[in-house]
Amino acid sequence: MRRIRIIGIGAGHPDQVTIEAVRALRSVDYFITADKADKPGGDQLLAARQALLERHLDDIPPVVAVRDPERDRDPDDYDQAVVDWHDARAEAYEQAILGHGEGDVGFLVWGDPAFYDSTIRIVEKVLARGRVEAEWDVIPGISSLQLLAARHRIVLHDIGQPIVVTTGRRLREALASGAENILVMLNSTIDLEGFEEWTIWWGANLGTPDERLVAGRVTEVAVDVLTTRIEVKTTVGWIMDVYLLRKKP
Ligand SMILES: C[S@@+](CC[C@H](N)C(=O)[O-])C[C@H]1O[C@@H](n2cnc3c(N)ncnc32)[C@H](O)[C@@H]1O
Repeated sequence: MRRIRIIGIGAGHPDQVTIEAVRALRSVDYFITADKADKPGGDQLLAARQALLERHLDDIPPVVAVRDPERDRDPDDYDQAVVDWHDARAEAYEQAILGHGEGDVGFLVWGDPAFYDSTIRIVEKVLARGRVEAEWDVIPGISSLQLLAARHRIVLHDIGQPIVVTTGRRLREALASGAENILVMLNSTIDLEGFEEWTIWWGANLGTPDERLVAGRVTEVAVDVLTTRIEVKTTVGWIMDVYLLRKKP
């Protein structure tokens, strides 16, 4: 039976791929990627994926780029808009698989498929639609969360303490809920008001030649984080950043 393999490819550096992932990359007949070339940084992400394949595969199988369906960026009902977008993506992936014919399919997932990535959900939807039959598996990757910790040489939480992983959009909710150790991804902006006494470990474009790191008390380094964000956006053209906020110094 056809296999669908969801492969975590690390967060930017071609060395940060597991041997299991390399074996999986070599096992598939073709890849499907969501083509985000019209989004800021999208073409660089595609280029990073291409560099990864060139590094680990002698013969690169076809890469089928599926155009990402349009998405309402400011919907009244955010959750429903995401479900609709996933449905549209599932249909597009189904068409790509049926159009390509037989063979095992690989999905290349940035970082680890378990964090803020919907490939698993969308593949489940593709299979639930009933036109594509396949076995499927997930190969873990090195997440930007792990890379942030490694670059700053930190443990992400205090001994035996919990950690909240959330998005920039929901940071205030995490603060209000009493969380004292918060990892934040998907930041369109960064607003550190209310965190002045906290410590931040911030990283942008980790694993790439344009990696940037800032760490310290929020009162002391907030301006550095914000100006470095602007500098990266302006000079590199795109930014992905992740940070840890901890209440205890
Ligand atoms: C759609 S999520 C995907 C996360 C991914 N699955 C992972 O495990 O890292 C994208 C977000 O992950 C973070 N991210 C991914 N790669 C990054 C990198 N190389 N440097 C900094 N942050 C990164 C950023 O917060 C970005 O907005």
